[in-house]
Amino acid sequence: MDVCVRSAQQPQRSPGGWVEAEEGALQEDDVGGPPKGSNQTESSLQSLQKFVRTEYASYTQEHYQFAGKNIVLQESIESFGAVVWPGATALCQYLEDHTEELNLQDAKVLEIGAGPGLVSIVASILGAQVTATDLPDVLGNLQYNILKNTLQRTAHLPDVRELVWGEDLERRFPKAALPYDYVLASDVVYHHYFLDKLLATMVHLSQPGTAVLWANKFRFSTDYEFLDKFKQVFDTTLLAEYPESSVKLFKGTLKWD
Ligand SMILES: C[S@@+](CC[C@H](N)C(=O)[O-])C[C@H]1O[C@@H](n2cnc3c(N)ncnc32)[C@H](O)[C@@H]1O
Repeated sequence: MDVCVRSAQQPQRSPGGWVEAEEGALQEDDVGGPPKGSNQTESSLQSLQKFVRTEYASYTQEHYQFAGKNIVLQESIESFGAVVWPGATALCQYLEDHTEELNLQDAKVLEIGAGPGLVSIVASILGAQVTATDLPDVLGNLQYNILKNTLQRTAHLPDVRELVWGEDLERRFPKAALPYDYVLASDVVYHHYFLDKLLATMVHLSQPGTAVLWANKFRFSTDYEFLDKFKQVFDTTLLAEYPESSVKLFKGTLKWD
């Protein structure tokens, strides 16, 4: 079920501008991460917390249930990239329901605009080899959430990398070396100025055999304009609709003619 089952306020602004490691963040019995007392992995996570931005007044810990696991994410409503959006829970539900059909075991997956990391975490728990990407500012919290929820839970520990849409793509993600079975994207289309660069990025990351799974809550005219452009370059199938959240999930494979 794609439910956020509980939430706990975690105010922890530090004067130095960086969040310090929360005591006990790893102590919940049913959460991924190292066993209690695993000093080395705990200290890795604590080190990572130093890269989590603290301009935001508070973080909360949000709990999700997917793939039989309790997933705990550190989120802040003060950043688009630090909150789970409706497209993410819909995409996770789809991945969970269609794991075998999608052949996710050992599949090579890259997520763009991963935000707090829920989709990448679920794909990883379901067996995929995941690279989670986003803007530089978001990567600290993303890396923290991913490590906390995948350590000792997954066959392949996810990679976290900077990917700014349309920027320096060939140098950072050379086409010749791209092996992705899936490019995942949830709620990356909303009212912003980078929609052409976003589409160019989806195209750049696609090779024959790559499927783009794009889940989006449709709200603005720009969402539909992007869909029209997406359909011009990708053979597009509507995989699922979630009327309660207005989310649609599309699969796109690049047109090669
Ligand atoms: C609305 S949030 C969605 C986050 C996550 N995918 C989800 O559904 O919960 C959009 C994400 O796109 C990222 N993003 C926005 N503009 C970007 C850009 N130009 N390059 C790379 N990522 C960008 C944001 O940092 C943020 O994580």
